[in-house]
Amino acid sequence: MPSLNDIRSTFLGYFERNGHRVVDSSPLVPRNDPTLMFANSGMVQFKNCFTGVETREYKRATTAQKCVRAGGKHNDLDNVGYTARHHTFFEMLGNFSFGDYFKSDAIPFAWELLTKDFGIPKDRLLVTVYHTDDEAANIWKKVAGLSDDRIIRIPTNDNFWMMGPTGPCGPCTEIFFDHGEHIWGGPPGSADEDGDRFIEIWNLVFMQYEQFADGTKRDLDMQSIDTGMGLERIGALLQGKHDNYDTDLMRSLIEASAHATSADPDGPGKVHHRVIADHLRSTSFLIADGVMPSNEGRGYVLRRIMRRAMRHAHMLGAVDPVMHKLVPALVRQMGAAYPELTRAQALIEETLKLEETRFKQTLDRGLKLLDDELARLPEGAALPGAAAFKLYDTYGFPLDLTQDALREQGRTVETEGFEAAMAEQKAKARASWAGSGEAKDATIWFELAEKNGTTEFLGYDTETAEGEILALVIDGAEAEAATGAVQIVVNQTPFYGESGGQVGDAGWIRTETGLAHVTDTRKTAGVFVHLATVTEGELRRGQPAKLEVSHTRRAAIRANHSATHLLHEALRRALGDHVAQKGSLNAEDRLRFDFSHAKALAPEELAAVEAEVNAYIRQNAAVDTRIMTPDDARALGAQALFGEKYGDEVRVVSMGHLAGSGKGSDGATYSLELCGGTHVARTGDIGAFVALGDSASSAGVRRIEALTGQAALDHLKAQAARLAEIGAALKAAPAEVVDRVRALADERRQLANEVAQLRRELAMGGGTAGGPQAKDINGIRFMAQVVAGVSGKDLPALVDDLKARIGSGAVLIVADVGGKAAVAAGVTPDLIARLSAVDLVKAAAEALGGKGGGGRPDMAQAGGSDATKSSEAVAAVEAVIGTAP
Ligand code: ALA
Repeated sequence: MPSLNDIRSTFLGYFERNGHRVVDSSPLVPRNDPTLMFANSGMVQFKNCFTGVETREYKRATTAQKCVRAGGKHNDLDNVGYTARHHTFFEMLGNFSFGDYFKSDAIPFAWELLTKDFGIPKDRLLVTVYHTDDEAANIWKKVAGLSDDRIIRIPTNDNFWMMGPTGPCGPCTEIFFDHGEHIWGGPPGSADEDGDRFIEIWNLVFMQYEQFADGTKRDLDMQSIDTGMGLERIGALLQGKHDNYDTDLMRSLIEASAHATSADPDGPGKVHHRVIADHLRSTSFLIADGVMPSNEGRGYVLRRIMRRAMRHAHMLGAVDPVMHKLVPALVRQMGAAYPELTRAQALIEETLKLEETRFKQTLDRGLKLLDDELARLPEGAALPGAAAFKLYDTYGFPLDLTQDALREQGRTVETEGFEAAMAEQKAKARASWAGSGEAKDATIWFELAEKNGTTEFLGYDTETAEGEILALVIDGAEAEAATGAVQIVVNQTPFYGESGGQVGDAGWIRTETGLAHVTDTRKTAGVFVHLATVTEGELRRGQPAKLEVSHTRRAAIRANHSATHLLHEALRRALGDHVAQKGSLNAEDRLRFDFSHAKALAPEELAAVEAEVNAYIRQNAAVDTRIMTPDDARALGAQALFGEKYGDEVRVVSMGHLAGSGKGSDGATYSLELCGGTHVARTGDIGAFVALGDSASSAGVRRIEALTGQAALDHLKAQAARLAEIGAALKAAPAEVVDRVRALADERRQLANEVAQLRRELAMGGGTAGGPQAKDINGIRFMAQVVAGVSGKDLPALVDDLKARIGSGAVLIVADVGGKAAVAAGVTPDLIARLSAVDLVKAAAEALGGKGGGGRPDMAQAGGSDATKSSEAVAAVEAVIGTAP
């Protein structure tokens, strides 16, 4: 009996042999469709190949596509567990032709695979075709030899396949399996078609049209093929089972559930095990594709599925969290076909455990409240909406969880009352933000958040995506269309909104009618605001748009942000635990990190920090992101960021393994931080790290600015070029430059001394022989000289010179410094008791048009504005000497 894994391989192998490229499943979160919540069929990733917008290097492809139908147009959530063939998660096997083969090949391929490779007896198969599609009917007749009564013409949309309200579409032919007379049901198109006897197993779509939002269709330029076969269904069939949950894969998950809850897999709790097995798959695959539980959008669908599964585990009597314990069983079954599941195993387990632990706290109380409410109601009456809302609001019960719980008792919820209570709560929230004093221009973002919900951020996983333009805001008001400067709001975006020190993304938003250049992205009230200028055509509200982040810019920002984490840790290790982040900037061209530390870093300290960061870059360790409670994150040692508030859950980014530690073991992680930013995949992606220096940011806070990647290399190259330039100017090799500069500095100092000496000698009349004569005043010898060509700082040496010559007495030098005067006076030590150089210099300064003067009794200096008054200065000094005691 082939396992589901065998069947998947047989399918892909068959089409690979027939010239098809085996393409990986696309992620569950569609990158190329703004209207779709989750990938819900194999063709989603090829949507644009059918319309001709995109061409690939192959024209035939085959995939096993992960699909989730638990929100949006196709929603199977309510029925899961209770029926044989509903799933929130399933795999769709498909083969695709993009303008290559069409009906006359697609039908034989399907027939051959089913009847030969899968060995299904021909007489158990029948088909439907769209009522006008004679061509398909004829091909079936010819290829399969089916009689007319087994080629059923269907006039309804059942045989016209559309992905959604818009997009490629076409008539289809469906292949059915007849389980035999012993099961009730009629052939497709009959009154009893809903019975279980005839089961659709494969749908072949003949893509020929494109449907537009206004209801019109156009013929596609090429005719293509899109097929879809649910692996679980064909698996059940080939394993001789009627129920998808009896296949080997689903059964192993059910048994894991039975084991973990100690409850009989086929006992009264059978439905619960089925729900758990199904929900385990959808939640795990969603988490592996980057969806995290939240209260909005995709995250809320995930949360609803998780909580629904948890209630069913509770019904089985599970006291402790169960779901996370089942993940290894799932990874064993599906990890080989979907390696992303294996890679994300730890993340899936942690996320499930966290959600289970938290929900557990309110689940019991909520269920008790529900029981109390029901006890008060008449038999079979619907639960009042207000009670369902209380369960939602206070106990975290999604509405469908409550409905699911009531279903077992044949009851429903009054959803109108629930909606009314929800609307009332929103009105209250509005009143509170309206009165919260937010800037007036922020109000519009709150209004948009309320009207359209918050923006879903896809940018952790992708830098391009499609979104729908929900609002165009020009000068603070909504507009229907935009041509110039505009603020754009979409339902989902890969653009990062400025926060946590990381700058907002820039890039492009393109629609059918125009192109906008985004220069920055901000986040207000959960709404991402793209600051943009429309540079071509116009953008219109409601249009689907392609969003593309500037990849090189984002890569540089990412490298800087990850390097900041490494820097933070390196600083903490080098300087001590007091190092805490006080602010940061992760921009395209540089990073800046402010941290608490009292004194400047010594050059060796900075060099050591820089070297450590580079060592962890070269370690090229994977950067890991997980979601947990703030307390768990702190317990793990995450460095809480300064001044930020955290909600119930935090994103924890870790990178690097401590040298010599077992890779990945707990506590051996190098850097662990709470962070909502975008990061490199591996530390090696940072490339290189260069610290530009350390400076004071504010009291007790230092700031390091640094470069990474290409910017770091450019900086080093520029430094090297400067060094080469200096070397060339000095005619020295780079290695000799420092010695040469030192030698030049020594030489320069020596020359300067010599020049000063020569200048003095020149000023004093050259040598000791010349110069002024001393005269006797009041018994004191006095010598004065007027000089030029020297500066004020040469005067003390000249005064000393004269003092030496005179032996005992007073001296005065007046220098003409470009028309202004510098003056210095000296008194030999034996006369200091009678005469102060300060008094002398003051008298001289006054005569020279200056004021004041200072120094010691034996030597003082001053300045004046007029050097031509030198004889007056000499006379003034002589007068002072004349009155000395
Ligand atoms: N896209 C088609 C389907 O999902 C094959 O049924």
